Amino acid sequence: MFILKNFSLKNKITEKFSTDEKIVLREGDTYEFLKEIPDETIKLVISSPPYNVGKIYEEKVDIKAYLKNQTRVISELVRVLKNDGSICWEIGNYIDKGEVYPLDIYYYDIFKNHNLTLRNRIIWHFGHGLHASKRFSGRYETILWFSKSDNYTFKLDDVRVPPKYPGKRHYKGPKKGQLSCNPKGKNPSDIWQIVKQDWENEVWDIPNVKSNHPEKTVHPCQFPVELVERCVLALTNENDWVFDPYSGVGSTLIAGIKNNRRVIGVDKEPEYIKITKQRIADFYLGKLKIRPLGKPVYKPTGREKIARTPREWKEKIKQKRLI
Ligand SMILES: C[S@@+](CC[C@H](N)C(=O)[O-])C[C@H]1O[C@@H](n2cnc3c(N)ncnc32)[C@H](O)[C@@H]1O
Repeated sequence: MFILKNFSLKNKITEKFSTDEKIVLREGDTYEFLKEIPDETIKLVISSPPYNVGKIYEEKVDIKAYLKNQTRVISELVRVLKNDGSICWEIGNYIDKGEVYPLDIYYYDIFKNHNLTLRNRIIWHFGHGLHASKRFSGRYETILWFSKSDNYTFKLDDVRVPPKYPGKRHYKGPKKGQLSCNPKGKNPSDIWQIVKQDWENEVWDIPNVKSNHPEKTVHPCQFPVELVERCVLALTNENDWVFDPYSGVGSTLIAGIKNNRRVIGVDKEPEYIKITKQRIADFYLGKLKIRPLGKPVYKPTGREKIARTPREWKEKIKQKRLI
């Protein structure tokens, strides 16, 4: 499965960090790796850290112990971050015995203790997921975007999205009659609707919709390349370093390479490192399927078979009416 046919990554990927490199990928512990990175090197740290929810790659520990470990990693991340750089920390909720712990609330203080400034708390909303029975089903995660100083890079024009009503005009005032939308597009706002890799759930099994997200790998919680791309494009320039300290199967690396950034990824799982290498190779060979940035999320029209009320339900309704 991981044979790289007619393609050599040897010249492209290195394990050891050096400012001359373009792609650094390390199998190992992120805290240990961080010691090798000089101060103020990285323009963007972007990651979804382990959530301490007992996924296959993590051991669930007491929340205090989990946060203590994350605090020491974050201290190092802030040290390696450039003064005009940013950290985007994508997290969900930790759940213990039915109680929800919103991780971003805990992380906020950790970042603030380093005098970082919160620029956005982005809600990543997705339409599908596990169905809860004792609380409302969770359908969002958050991305905390912090900058290290007020001199941060933010290139809104690179990530504008098409307006909903491009033909809208000012209806009063001196600009009355003129088009009111920015022709470059609108600000994507702090609520992002990007398809989650929810192939574990039934949505991707629906015939006639789509049987798979194009980026699916074996990783249980990989994030979409397009989600990272928006941050990379808005918060960095070409050739800047983008670093994912928990890189999983390398979505951040793909998003960075695709946009001519230099990238670093670290993950402790050999299998994810292998998959990352394969995905990078596939990217260079033009074989990697990536969901394009800004592609609208599929909305059922109501005409699909699975969007109609099933026969069995209709019969039950009929029976009830007869009673
Ligand atoms: C939520 S996943 C990140 C997935 C990634 N965003 C992607 O798109 O594939 C967290 C990752 O952190 C890795 N990890 C956990 N503890 C680690 C550590 N101490 N050092 C390096 N990687 C670690 C896990 O193997 C897992 O792949």
